[in-house]
Amino acid sequence: MVPLKRRKVVSSISTEDINRFPNVVIFLLVRKMGESRRAFLSQLGRKKGFQVEDSFSDLVTHVVSENNTGEEVRMWLRSQQKDKALTAQLLDMSWYTESMRAGCPVQILDRHKLQDEESVKEESVVEFSVPTYACQRRTTSDDHNSKLTDALTLLAENAELNNEDGRAVAFRRAAAVLKALPETVTSMTQLRRLPCLGEHSQRVIKDIIEDGVSGEVESTRHSERFKALKCLTGIFGVGAKTADRWFREGIQTLEHLVVSEHELNRAQQAGLEHYDDLNQPVTKAEALKIGDIVKRALLNVLPGCEMTLTGGFRRGKMTGHDVDFLITHPDEGKEVGLMPKVVSWLTAQGVLLYEKTTRSSFLVSENGPAQPPSNMDRFERCFSIFKLEKEKMDSVNAYPQTRYSGQITASNSHLVEANEMPNTHLPANKWRAVRVDLVVSPISQFPFALLGWTGSKLFERELRRWAGHVKSMSLSSHALYDNTQCKYLRATSEEEIFAHLGLEFIAPSDRNA
Ligand code: UTP
Ligand code: MN
Repeated sequence: MVPLKRRKVVSSISTEDINRFPNVVIFLLVRKMGESRRAFLSQLGRKKGFQVEDSFSDLVTHVVSENNTGEEVRMWLRSQQKDKALTAQLLDMSWYTESMRAGCPVQILDRHKLQDEESVKEESVVEFSVPTYACQRRTTSDDHNSKLTDALTLLAENAELNNEDGRAVAFRRAAAVLKALPETVTSMTQLRRLPCLGEHSQRVIKDIIEDGVSGEVESTRHSERFKALKCLTGIFGVGAKTADRWFREGIQTLEHLVVSEHELNRAQQAGLEHYDDLNQPVTKAEALKIGDIVKRALLNVLPGCEMTLTGGFRRGKMTGHDVDFLITHPDEGKEVGLMPKVVSWLTAQGVLLYEKTTRSSFLVSENGPAQPPSNMDRFERCFSIFKLEKEKMDSVNAYPQTRYSGQITASNSHLVEANEMPNTHLPANKWRAVRVDLVVSPISQFPFALLGWTGSKLFERELRRWAGHVKSMSLSSHALYDNTQCKYLRATSEEEIFAHLGLEFIAPSDRNA
């Protein structure tokens, strides 16, 4: 609405109008503009010396409208049986206001011309489209929609903390779809054709696109329960169920836990002791340094082993919550019993603050793995916490640049000589604790283990879902079983596994779903 005062002033001078631009005869379309705004704008134009007509006629050269498409204006003119009008320029209000400001008719640019609905749609609304399964898509670590994906991830975390796994996966799938988009989403229309966006996720996305925030996400983020459960599950060795039990007993913080004198298991004790370190991201440089330590251990206990950095770092992430390594030996069988030897070497060097080794229980027969694959890994595995010397991190160059995948041979012998340990008597401020996962795989299962341990978690879940639902196959970190042919499918590389699954190969850096 135009303020009354202004309207009065403008109308009082309308009688003195002069037409300074005889070649320009303007008609303002009332449709979507409203009578009062039209009256105000007409008076303003006349005051500036423009000829602004109250009704449409053959004289009109410029039809100006607001929030209309070309098609809508043409239809209106046709309804007035003024077909000749189609020769006049159909312009947007921007041309009029710019002309008012300039005090003369400005040059008509493309952006001033009304567009037809079809072209408006094409230009302003890019409808995104992605394949349904995350393992069919390339997802780099560039997230153009982090505001939306962070919100959905928080809701997924909250669902996980509440043991609502189905709901959690739905939010994670929705977040993964948005992570795969090449641009930032600006309207809900763009999402019309996307898979995996349930009603709940759409509601959250809409709130954030339109209002900048989602009430549900913010109230979850600030809820006592969510904050407490996040804090408690931040302790290594504490899962959602334990955290929930403690919360119901009134434990909300680390201090509460300490004074409660709850009996903690060995993992939880270590988790509590190194809480701050373990909740601080591990850098790539730190991961590489730990890689050197593990290589040195392998060289000492079983030369010829191969070690690969897996997990998020293999996907190109610059930080992680832990460091994951996969170890194998080219001679099948040599890897048996390797983990305890590695662990005792590391222990002797004073590197380990905590370790728990689990035995391999996955049997292999002539024809392949003897047990049907399942989602449970049965590799020799060591969950550990490393005591990592800090100092040398300042100069990454002080560390030899080694390949973080491949055989450990005499050419890596600097690893044995460099940086003589043990580090048992490092002063407290000279080291930090880092979570490290070591996994040993027989070479015959190595490609499956590598694929399974590279992640992301959602990418892995989607690979298994694709295998089961689309290909009638069962995929694990040990093997791929074809339920139709009733046989295991062998593979010597990740590429072969993707090929068995009928999927295009997705490089590790594109598996950040
Ligand atoms: P992580 O939990 O370490 O995740 O598992 P990440 O992608 O490296 O992320 P950050 O950076 O540490 O936070 C790595 C991969 O190992 C598999 C997971 O599926 C994931 O793909 N994994 C993990 C298993 O297969 N089994 C497990 O018990 C744990
Ligand atoms: Mn990891």
